[in-house]
Amino acid sequence: MNILFVGDIFGSAGRKIVAEHIGHIREAHHVDLTVINAENAAGGFGVTPQIADDLFDLGADVLTTGNHVWDKKELIDYLNSVPPDSQQNPRRVLRPLNLYPGVPGHGLFQGVTHSGVPFAVINLMGRVYMNGTNDPFRAIDDALKTITAKVILVDFHAEVTSEKVAMGWHLDGRVTAVLGTHTHVPTADERILHHGTAYQTDVGMSGPYDSVIGVEKDLVLHRFLTGMPGKFEAARGNPKMCAALIHCEERTGRAISIQRIMLGE
Ligand SMILES: [Fe+2]
Ligand SMILES: [Fe+2]
Repeated sequence: MNILFVGDIFGSAGRKIVAEHIGHIREAHHVDLTVINAENAAGGFGVTPQIADDLFDLGADVLTTGNHVWDKKELIDYLNSVPPDSQQNPRRVLRPLNLYPGVPGHGLFQGVTHSGVPFAVINLMGRVYMNGTNDPFRAIDDALKTITAKVILVDFHAEVTSEKVAMGWHLDGRVTAVLGTHTHVPTADERILHHGTAYQTDVGMSGPYDSVIGVEKDLVLHRFLTGMPGKFEAARGNPKMCAALIHCEERTGRAISIQRIMLGE
């Protein structure tokens, strides 16, 4: 089976470029499972229920997020009202699994594809240079004990490459794919690890690349040059959709290939 994972959608430019390309990619590659990281989809900061619904209408099966998950308050009610593990409800938005205890939402979704293959998606967040997370290694070890599906995709939302590479090896042979998000810069290290896990340190942002990781470049430069605060706004120029396409054995969950994708206008 084939899995499409789309990296952090950033602002309206990111939403537009993904909407332009996702249909033909899903069709051309016979994609069975589509997962999108939507943590920056609303102007760069979080995701709203309306935008989440629009992404589901484009064919997403599950949405993941990251450190920006709480940026839009309306999403908190949405997460509380929609258990992502409900088979009856198609609205499946995850927040990172390893946050403080008792926060809204879920970090794990288990479902079945249209062709009847059980799958799980886990949204995990790093703790090096990131706030509010527990040990992601122990968190995912515990989560994997509860999962019966063989096809398991992990979105590891983390800042530093070492933590992401380490997570890849930690999960090698235990999950189908470990795909990094958050840095908004795609890395060229996609590969199948020794025991059959597809890995990429960062899938890259789906958003405007004439920017500083999605934000209008002059605003970020001003902050670097002066140290003064200022409001950040999403850029629009040079939009690209970044994604990873994974082919795996549905019976074992073992990855066979991973392909890096970057598409522009
Ligand atoms: Fe992001
Ligand atoms: Fe992030």
